[in-house]
Amino acid sequence: MKKSIALLPGDGIGPEITAQAVAVLESVAKKYSHEFLFTQALVGACAIDACGDPYPDATHEICRKSDAVLFGAIGDPKYDNDPTAKVRPEQGLLKMRKSLGLFANLRPIAPFASLRESSPLKNGRIEGVDLIIVRELTGGLYFGEPRGRDNGGARAFDTCLYSREEIVRVARVAFNLARGRKRHVTLVDKANVLETSRLWRETVKTLHDEEYADIALDFMFVDNAAMQLVTSPAFFDVLLTENLFGDILSDEASVITGSIGLLPSASTGADVALYEPIHGSFPQAKGKNIANPIATILSAAMMLDSFGLAAEASAVRNGCRKAIEEGVVTPDLLTAAERESGGKGYSTTQVGEYICRNI
Ligand code: IPM
Ligand code: MN
Repeated sequence: MKKSIALLPGDGIGPEITAQAVAVLESVAKKYSHEFLFTQALVGACAIDACGDPYPDATHEICRKSDAVLFGAIGDPKYDNDPTAKVRPEQGLLKMRKSLGLFANLRPIAPFASLRESSPLKNGRIEGVDLIIVRELTGGLYFGEPRGRDNGGARAFDTCLYSREEIVRVARVAFNLARGRKRHVTLVDKANVLETSRLWRETVKTLHDEEYADIALDFMFVDNAAMQLVTSPAFFDVLLTENLFGDILSDEASVITGSIGLLPSASTGADVALYEPIHGSFPQAKGKNIANPIATILSAAMMLDSFGLAAEASAVRNGCRKAIEEGVVTPDLLTAAERESGGKGYSTTQVGEYICRNI
């Protein structure tokens, strides 16, 4: 199989972790006789530095023409505490999502058994946890107009906006996924307060009754969902929600596994799909060769699945599992005891090389 992949390392640790995912994909290509062609492009703070635009047209062209996009992370501290910055790295990510039509963001959360002790949840609460968050990605407060300031800058507003069509297309993704899983979808919203949430409930229920009656559908308010995710995470199978709620809940859910450095994601839409770790650019670790590459490598596994390469994807997942089981892990996954006894863990490149050797 021959596939073209747009490679967008981005900022911070992005280049280090994507380099390991590329190495793993190259090992897969060699072992299974495929050809993956990588074309690198700029996004985020590095794109602003190079050409003043966090998502340049040239990058968009490369993404559009590729079979998939592998993305690292964006963000740079020099923008975080400067509310006056007109151009920000995050705008690149939002523009990329919108212009590639990536309306469904899939964030699977399935803890590795050997990392049970690293989870902050105790008393067997993570037993049986295997959920996937389906986050709407191109609507809601992130994109709604109008937004801005009035009263001479003393008042600010954002708009939460959803159309029935935007809800239906992402709900379909959730229901279809549920058919290959435990057939259970939970819609998370704030329908007791928000009109957009009431439209979500009504639309998802109608779609369910008309086309997906074989799936169990329930509804949960987002404040309660935030609590249930840590008290009974095994309740969830497919958690469907709007953009901002999904952003918040997926960070919360990620810590259940012990490290946010393990969680992959896929953003899908009309044509090309994008694969990225759910963590950010971790600027404190930039250039230190200590960032966990596994989230990005598992994102590459999701990409292989989307190419229909199931055996290859599970070889990658098994490689990651083996690295974790054998303790070939970056410092974020060391136990407190290992750290106290002077354990330093392995480097980003050592973990990547170990996984490559195990493909
Ligand atoms: C994410 C990130 C982004 C988001 C930021 C960087 C704009 O937090 O992918 O979850 O809020 O969507
Ligand atoms: Mn986020």
